Amino acid sequence: MSLDLNPRAKVLKVPGIRQFSNQLVHFPNAINLTIGQPDFPTPKAVKNAGIQAIEQNLTGYSHNAGLLELRDAVNTFFTNKYGFSYDPQNEIVITNGASEAIDTVFRTILKEGDEVILPAPCYSGYEPIIHFCGAKIVYLDTTETNFQPSAEKLAELITEKTKAVFFNYPSNPTGVVLRKETVNQLVDLLIEKDIYILTDEIYSENTFSGTHTSFAAYPALRNKLFYIHGLSKSHSMTGWRIGFLMGPAEVMEQVVKVHAFNTICASVPGQYAAIEALINSKDTPSEMNIEYIKRRDYVFNRLMAIGLPVEKPNGAFYIFPSIERLGMTSFDFATKLLHEGGVAVVPGSVFTPFGEGYIRISYAYSMEVLEKGLDRIEEFILNLKG
Ligand SMILES: Cc1ncc(COP(=O)(O)O)c(C=O)c1O
Repeated sequence: MSLDLNPRAKVLKVPGIRQFSNQLVHFPNAINLTIGQPDFPTPKAVKNAGIQAIEQNLTGYSHNAGLLELRDAVNTFFTNKYGFSYDPQNEIVITNGASEAIDTVFRTILKEGDEVILPAPCYSGYEPIIHFCGAKIVYLDTTETNFQPSAEKLAELITEKTKAVFFNYPSNPTGVVLRKETVNQLVDLLIEKDIYILTDEIYSENTFSGTHTSFAAYPALRNKLFYIHGLSKSHSMTGWRIGFLMGPAEVMEQVVKVHAFNTICASVPGQYAAIEALINSKDTPSEMNIEYIKRRDYVFNRLMAIGLPVEKPNGAFYIFPSIERLGMTSFDFATKLLHEGGVAVVPGSVFTPFGEGYIRISYAYSMEVLEKGLDRIEEFILNLKG
């Protein structure tokens, strides 16, 4: 058969992170530092809530927007923690992970020719969807500003075609959190502008010191902001596929249709487990953070000792050292490191062209694995020089 396919589907590439981790099957003894999911089990009480839902036959569809009880729990959780509120009746949609929230909101708001500003380097899950919608990406380079998005630079990029600006802090891949004064400057600029603000704060619960500043806590942005979150990272629930999308009622009315025709609703046993996570397992993220902080400190100190310059991350579970001085592209470095050094990391170029010259290391691994991995990286780099 030679029927035409959607050319926008054909140009999509296998996700860069997967391209690398998929190679690992050929290197069974390699240390894998590529994966972005917590290495802790889902909390027992949360698993039990899911099991109970299944045993009680709570396995049918839910309301398209999700169980009202869960939407209530979402609102209560974020109100108590960050002081902002969304109406569970018409401003919150439970999605199949944050991924579906991102897809749904982009497909609801974007049209052909729109521009979306992405501070970069950034997570690789945004660009393909923007392209799929026929919109154009405009990068905001953060490499010269310690990975903080500069309001001044952002102002220069806004045109009459700009439909949205997208933030993700704490950041995948850099682990950087936004400084409060940076958020204030961005908010001051964006209040004036007729553009949507999308904020993926899925790592907010993995903030290691100080408090996370949420864009959603600024009432002046309320009518144009979409807040994306989920339980994959905070409660180690990547496979349960539970995400949250919140926004102003008049647009959410459209969003919920796009979501409904795509997926009807999020997994219902997963939604019951999510209620338990939000109401009774609030301490889970801070318990994980104790481990992440130890690992972050260890990996940071080792990288500094090896001589790879790196911004000390204050959130998520990634670290993003520069390999620029080694004179190789990040893809060549990562390939050589896997083949000759026995460690898998993600090339920075996976996270937009502004990630070139860096590699991403995930420390969602045990100390034992991290020690072995860093020993191997150190030896590999010594041999490169020799
Ligand atoms: C920044 C960011 N947003 C969204 C996602 C997707 O999360 P989910 O599992 O909720 O779809 C990820 C996953 O790695 C991520 O790093």
